[in-house]
Amino acid sequence: MSYSDVHQSYGRCRRAGNFVDRFYERFLAADERVAQAFTTTNWSQQKRALGQAISTAISYAEGESFVAPTMEKMAEVHSRHGRVPVAPELYGVWLNCMVETAREVDPRWEESLAQRWRGALSPAIDLFIERY
Ligand code: HEM
Repeated sequence: MSYSDVHQSYGRCRRAGNFVDRFYERFLAADERVAQAFTTTNWSQQKRALGQAISTAISYAEGESFVAPTMEKMAEVHSRHGRVPVAPELYGVWLNCMVETAREVDPRWEESLAQRWRGALSPAIDLFIERY
């Protein structure tokens, strides 16, 4: 499956400049367990890591085998025995915040992109939940 439309939408979001900041504003406000998890975070490092992780997750959904080891490492970080355990029920919140942020920031947003974004990020989330 090709998600070049989602890669392009994400590229426009990044060039618009404030995607990752806007995402975290939303995400931290969405659930108090999320805000709790990020109390000691180094934000410049975290924002760089997420910016990269989104592209990786979209490529993973396209079946690009070279990103699979990177995704496995990210899943490990968020597993129950990992450095940052993430309860599976928080991934729905994460995904909604992603799509809402893309809708807000992408200067050429079309509503059909919402389902495309969901399709492009779901394989990564499914992996994280499976590895939890
Ligand atoms: C598929 C969705 C997600 C992806 C791709 C993702 C990706 C990442 C990555 C790449 C890192 C940096 C890891 C490192 O430093 O080695 C990270 C850290 C983190 N993530 Fe996620 N994450 C996701 C979902 C979530 C969710 C739902 C939460 C909910 C609380 C969360 C909370 C955190 C926290 C607290 C950190 C560590 C921040 C710190 O160092 O203080 N993540 N995540």
